[in-house]
Amino acid sequence: MTAEELRHLYFDFFAGKNHTLIQGASLIPQEDSTILFTPAGMQPLVPYLLGEKHPAGKRLVDVQKCIRTGDIEEVGDSSHLTFFEMLGNWSLGDYFKREAIIWSFEFLTDRKWLGFKPEQLHVTVFAGEGEIPPDEEAAALWEEAGISSDRIYFLGRADNWWGPTGNTGPCGPDTEIFIDTGLPPCTPECRPGCGCGKYFEIWNDVFMEYRRTADGQYVPLEQKNVDTGMGVARTVAMMNGCSTIYDIPQFELLFGFLKKLSGLGTEPDDQALRSLRIVSDHIRTATHILGDDQGIPPSNLDRGYVLRRLIRLAVRHGRKLGIDEPFTHRLAEFVIDVESPVHEELARNRKFILDELSMEESRFEKTLQSGLREFEKILPNLMKNPAKIIPGRIAFRLYDTYGFPVEFTAELASEHGMTVDMEGYGKAFDKHRELSRQGGDQKFKGGLADNSEIVTRLHTATHLLHQVLKDVLGDQVEQKGSNITEKRLRFDFSYPEKMTPEQIALVEKKVNEIIKADLSVSSEETSLEHALEDGAIGLFRSKYGDKVKVYKIGDFSLEICGGPHVGRTGELGIFRIVKEMSSSRGIRRIRAVLE
Ligand code: ALA
Repeated sequence: MTAEELRHLYFDFFAGKNHTLIQGASLIPQEDSTILFTPAGMQPLVPYLLGEKHPAGKRLVDVQKCIRTGDIEEVGDSSHLTFFEMLGNWSLGDYFKREAIIWSFEFLTDRKWLGFKPEQLHVTVFAGEGEIPPDEEAAALWEEAGISSDRIYFLGRADNWWGPTGNTGPCGPDTEIFIDTGLPPCTPECRPGCGCGKYFEIWNDVFMEYRRTADGQYVPLEQKNVDTGMGVARTVAMMNGCSTIYDIPQFELLFGFLKKLSGLGTEPDDQALRSLRIVSDHIRTATHILGDDQGIPPSNLDRGYVLRRLIRLAVRHGRKLGIDEPFTHRLAEFVIDVESPVHEELARNRKFILDELSMEESRFEKTLQSGLREFEKILPNLMKNPAKIIPGRIAFRLYDTYGFPVEFTAELASEHGMTVDMEGYGKAFDKHRELSRQGGDQKFKGGLADNSEIVTRLHTATHLLHQVLKDVLGDQVEQKGSNITEKRLRFDFSYPEKMTPEQIALVEKKVNEIIKADLSVSSEETSLEHALEDGAIGLFRSKYGDKVKVYKIGDFSLEICGGPHVGRTGELGIFRIVKEMSSSRGIRRIRAVLE
């Protein structure tokens, strides 16, 4: 089955259920300036989910281009892409759970449509949380449709809740449909939602019946909606019996070109395979960003920066594959040729796409060359170091002054029998970042971008998170970075592996316990030595002078910090981790919010 065939089947099926086909929207959200790219089919339809009348009626069907750069670190595994197409059927205050589930089952299993065997399907439903009850109704409907109860799983909010895409907006419990690929389970506990690749998610039916308000309440919507999303590449892969999303014809074509150009054999090793996937995914996404009629070029800001990062990452992985000539525009030609019958804008913007890719690749090439020249200049000196270690500050200077990525320095180092002090590099990086913040702008008091109330609360929450992470994961946890906006906190820390869902839940729970305990927050000025003797934790110790400020939260946390903080932890609200991901090698990143 091709993507084209799947689209038609989907449209025909839902036309038969009185849905009107509508045009998908641009990748660049028109209304919502807080979002860089359209992340889901529901995004352009938000006003209609909230009650506005859609000119095409209450039952719609479409295919929407989406970009999720939050998943960028996962690209290279078996199922993630940064750009993908999502098929959706919509009920705007019309049908609800029953029809959505019964029709999903029919489309998936009827021989006239996709013809999966019911035994291949596994589904998850919302287990309930807070005031919102478990979705027994959805589970019962799946059973009625023909899924046996041992293939229906109840999971929490992290898995079975969708939206809102920003801070506020429509949201609700969902039910997700997985195909069992037939791979062996990774552990006896393996089940849908596990990332090992055995269970492959292809479709999500969301029951949009709530609206999240600015103060974090979930208010029932007047109209109950259905929002569904079926991944095109994912479903095509499953229909063709492939075990990864990259085995579909579209990607085979890109891989074929890259293998030829790089001289790779037909059986690439794991690392080369990962690079092939990353290059193909990123250039496909870049092609679609450039191909959007809004004509966004690479830059150092927002969307342009995402684009720049995608292209440069692709070039780096291209180099790893052994390609040392400009190639991104050639790869993009395949994407344009294959996808422009459906996405006409790619053909319309062909010249812009190819020119911008070529220019960005050559700009990056110049950066790399000046870095390389500098490296060669200092090499004789570096070689004199008997330990054969390149100091972190030198690797950092290559990056900071010449834009030379540290992985490249590490690679060159290894060619000369040397290694890079990565820890030192990380320190130099952090120190630089902190200094430039403190030096440049008076606004950045205590390392904060803004002293508004929410930022202060998030700052206190960061201290709690820091201590709880040490308690749960051990003392190897060290803060590597922190960044707070009015929307969320971000915390980077050293830890060698992905946190398990249980660890994440435990960390959330412990932070919330401390919040509930309503501990008082106080500070005192003391000497650095004294603070350290007392066991205070904190980043960037060296930059503090003799006197430091230490914040104490009950008897729970003691941290060197410039503040400001709230007076009591009870002011924080509910703490929720929204994402746990890799930041760089050996460094994890958590994004969390207060609700
Ligand atoms: N909005 C839902 C999703 O993107 C369908 O998964």
